[in-house]
Amino acid sequence: MAIRRILWYPDPQLMEQCAPVGDSTSELAELFRDLSDTMFAHNGAGLAAPQIGILKRVFVIDPVVAGLSEQDAPLLFVDPQIEWLSDETEVSDEGCLSFPGIYVPIRRALKARTRARDVEGKGFEVEGEGLFARAMQHEKDHLDGTLITDHVGRLKRKMIRRKMERETQSRDD
Ligand code: NI
Repeated sequence: MAIRRILWYPDPQLMEQCAPVGDSTSELAELFRDLSDTMFAHNGAGLAAPQIGILKRVFVIDPVVAGLSEQDAPLLFVDPQIEWLSDETEVSDEGCLSFPGIYVPIRRALKARTRARDVEGKGFEVEGEGLFARAMQHEKDHLDGTLITDHVGRLKRKMIRRKMERETQSRDD
């Protein structure tokens, strides 16, 4: 069990473009475990590797959010590509473990289909709707350094930045 420290906005690592994993699956099992443990410890719907300071194209999604059962492992996405997004969209409040306590309304495609590889390097494709589709779009954004602040206006972004800078100063973990 390894719960890692989650980077908070505006940590510059969160704004980086992450590197593809490619064929090197050697450290994936450990990364998968750390992402899962950290996500569960913070009750997140998903978590992307850059949020724990690993700038690789990897994220996990909570099994229940991914349509599996509570007993299942989180769904791991390695080098994910969003293959298709529905034209139909939905606005919903969205949070992020790198922005504790902050929720902003974001318009996302209602359905999404993603292709990725699993922990053994095996390819798979998955389609999701609602929260699952939203989580895939949100986590994929992280891999390109795109954050919830990139989906709001300038003023709101400034307010969030100020609040998070204060939070970071008083952070005690
Ligand atoms: Ni996030």
